[in-house]
This record gives sequence, C-alpha cells and structure tokens, in this order.
Amino acid sequence: MSTLFSGRGFSGKIKISQKEFFELRDIIYELSGIFLQDNRRFLVENRFATRLSELELKNYTEYIDYLKNHFKGRSEELNMLTELITTNETSFFRDNSQLKIFQNFTLKKFIDAGNESGRREIKIWSAGCSSGEEPYTLAIILHETLKSEIGKWRIKITANDISTNVLKMAEKGLYTKYSLRTTPAPIILKYFKNIGNDVFQINPEVKRLVKFSKINLNIESQVKLIPKSHIVFCRNVIIYFDKKMKIKVLSGFHNNLLDNGHLYVGHSESLHSVTDKFKPRQHAGTITYHKI
Ligand SMILES: C[S@@+](CC[C@H](N)C(=O)[O-])C[C@H]1O[C@@H](n2cnc3c(N)ncnc32)[C@H](O)[C@@H]1O
Repeated sequence: MSTLFSGRGFSGKIKISQKEFFELRDIIYELSGIFLQDNRRFLVENRFATRLSELELKNYTEYIDYLKNHFKGRSEELNMLTELITTNETSFFRDNSQLKIFQNFTLKKFIDAGNESGRREIKIWSAGCSSGEEPYTLAIILHETLKSEIGKWRIKITANDISTNVLKMAEKGLYTKYSLRTTPAPIILKYFKNIGNDVFQINPEVKRLVKFSKINLNIESQVKLIPKSHIVFCRNVIIYFDKKMKIKVLSGFHNNLLDNGHLYVGHSESLHSVTDKFKPRQHAGTITYHKI
C-alpha cells in the first residue's frame, strides 16, 4: 500500500511517501546514475534517518527542499547523499575463479605481447574500486605473476570511486580480517603486515602500483581524464544503474580501452542486450568482454 503522507513508522524512523521517494530518486539518479527500484523505499528510510535528524528536518519534503534550495551547503549535502546511497561491499580476492581467468588468460596475453614487442607496460583501470581491495588484489596478482621481472615493467593501476570516504580508506591501506575473508592464507602472510589489533597493512610494493582518485562515472568529462587502459575492471557497480546509465558507462570504458582491451564486470552482471561494443568470450565460470 502506498503511503500518502509522511510521518514516523513503528521503528520511529521518518517514513517517505511515494511522491517524496520519486523526487529523491530523481535527484540521486541525476547525481550518480544510481537508480533505485520502487522497492527501495525502506532502504532510503533506513539510510537517511540519522541525516534527517542531524539536520533537524521533520520529513523528506523538507530534505528535498534542503537539497534543492540550500545553496550554501548544497555541494556538501550532495556529497553526504552520495555517501549514504552507495553500497561499498567488497573484499580482497573477491570472485577468485574470475581472477584466475584474469591471471592466466588476460594478463598472460598482455605480458606475452609486451615481452614480444619490448614495450613492457600494463595499464589497468578499476572503476568503482570502493575501499581499495579490488585494485590492490590486481596489484598482488601482478606481483605473483611477474615475480622478480616486475621491475622491468611499467605498471599503472588507476582506481577510482564516487565516494570520498572509501577512497580515504583505500589510501590508508589498512584493513581488518573482514576485508581478507576471501583471501588465500599464503597471500595474507606474504603481502600484509599484522600491525596489531587485527589491523593488516598492505605491502608498500603493492601499494605503489595503485593511484586513487575521485571520479563520478556519470560525468563524461571526468571519465575522459582516466589514462587509456589495457584492462578495465568494473565489478559490482553497473548493477546499481539503469539501462541508459549502463550504456553511457560502457561506452566510456570502450573509449578508454586500448585496441584488443579486455573488460571485466561482476559475475551477476551482463552486457547482453545492453551494448554490442564488446565481444563476449566464455571461460569456465566467467565471461571476458573484448573491445571490438
Ligand atoms: C559494491 S562496490 C564494488 C567494489 C569492487 N568493484 C568490488 O567488486 O568488490 C560499488 C562501488 O561503486 C561505486 N559507485 C557507484 N556509483 C558510482 C559512480 N557513479 N561513479 C563512481 N563510482 C560509483 C560505489 O561508491 C561503490 O564503492
């Protein structure tokens, strides 16, 4: 049943009416490309409850008005909104079977080509990198693959996200056991230092391969600033976008990729019926997408 009025629910949280939800959803979409399905009203009520009470606002109409008309604090509030609406779930070595394909197929291809041409360079873009677990994982895989040869290679992993908070965590390179829950034990021993209280510090040789910056995938001029890449990772990000935004973002990846570049998306994400700019290739348990 739709709520025609805003008030407080049983939980004490301010309820959002359908009209307010649609208005707030439009603001979020315009800002980030993140599209909230109709059944996400509950999520909004949960995530925004504290913010509304901090601002001493009585309902979502007041919050929407604040977002639209509070010119002095507008950009700060939009940043706050971004932090509240993004889902930053991640871990080191997430979906390891896909990463094995990355190591044994994609990376091998670019390493062989670099050794053959003498142009030993690999550029990777981790788009929607959250707190850094994904790009650091890729850097570890590069160390594991190239071993003592790594010094002969120019490696650049560009990692970015729309959320300032997760980027600050990524820059620190300090993690809890939770972030390492999908990481093989020998890798933890080799590339992390337990600095006490179950805090694990990433190895500086891994850290130096990754450069973090803030970009919004919904803003073309920002996307264009990313250096051209051999490989793009954008896993578990486009799942939050609608078809129009997916097409826009995938077109940005296509422009960014060098000839024969590869794209990796999350295992529950597909480019099928979204774009034909990439040729899918099926591997055991994963699909790689190749720039056409
Ligand atoms: C679920 S995390 C995925 C992290 C990592 N790629 C992984 O698979 O483990 C999704 C990330 O995408 C980011 N994101 C969402 N919309 C974005 C946008 N418009 N521009 C840049 N990053 C965005 C979120 O802030 C979040 O950190």
